[in-house]
Amino acid sequence: MTLFDIQTVQAELKSKNPRSILKTALENFDNIAISFSGAEDVVLIDMALNIRKDIQVFSLDTGRLHPETYQFIEKIRQHYQIDIEILTPDRGLLDPFVKEKGLFSFYEEGHQQCCGIRKVDSLRRKLSTLDAWITGQRKDQSLDTRQDIPEVQIDAAFSSEGKKLIKFNPLLNWSSGQVWDHIEAYQVPFNELHQKGFISIGCEPCTRAVIPNQHERAGRWWWEEATKKECGLHVNNVK
Ligand code: ADX
Ligand code: SF4
Repeated sequence: MTLFDIQTVQAELKSKNPRSILKTALENFDNIAISFSGAEDVVLIDMALNIRKDIQVFSLDTGRLHPETYQFIEKIRQHYQIDIEILTPDRGLLDPFVKEKGLFSFYEEGHQQCCGIRKVDSLRRKLSTLDAWITGQRKDQSLDTRQDIPEVQIDAAFSSEGKKLIKFNPLLNWSSGQVWDHIEAYQVPFNELHQKGFISIGCEPCTRAVIPNQHERAGRWWWEEATKKECGLHVNNVK
């Protein structure tokens, strides 16, 4: 995309609503995909389909998601009649890692290596085929790591020498409450875990329900410091 001037577009999109950001993303890029985690970021799929029918959606299957999340991803595939590309980890990396460190090394050593193999490596492979991607990150998800995310950015972590990868974050200005208003108003299907006290949803061994008024990311990698609660998908967020 040569005509896409990131600074101009960012200035135009500043503080805009998710639909406007998504529209700009989908109108400017053909080879663009939504990165769907199997949680409330389903609203991106719901909105994007009203703009364009041929959207690309992918999910990173770490092999450690909750059964409810697998069921939910399948439900979304059928409900919207869309293809969802399910990306699995590279077994050449995963098998020796599990053989050496077992299935729960993240509780001892931190989550970086496991996330690196089960999520980030698969994401890198997928992003190398795209010109742009769309995420469901929001500012209100973390006071520690997500306050500075812009509507659109060059993804420095996943760009290559010859190609700048563009990243759109359409939900960033919405609160969790606004996302849930949309889900209710438009009867969007949601992950059953949300009815069991889960807010932010990741892998099963690394996510737990939170108590009322506790911050949502308190349920993610709860044994680690808040400033480290990024798994490498959004590595630009970690200062
Ligand atoms: S994470 O980095 O801590 O795991 P989070 O769960 O907050 O991310 O989700 C933020 C956004 O990252 C999601 O809306 C989605 O775009 C992307 N994402 C997170 N996990 C996945 C996944 N397993 N597959 C695809 N995209 C994901
Ligand atoms: Fe591994 Fe936990 Fe990261 Fe999932 S969230 S990839 S199980 S460390």
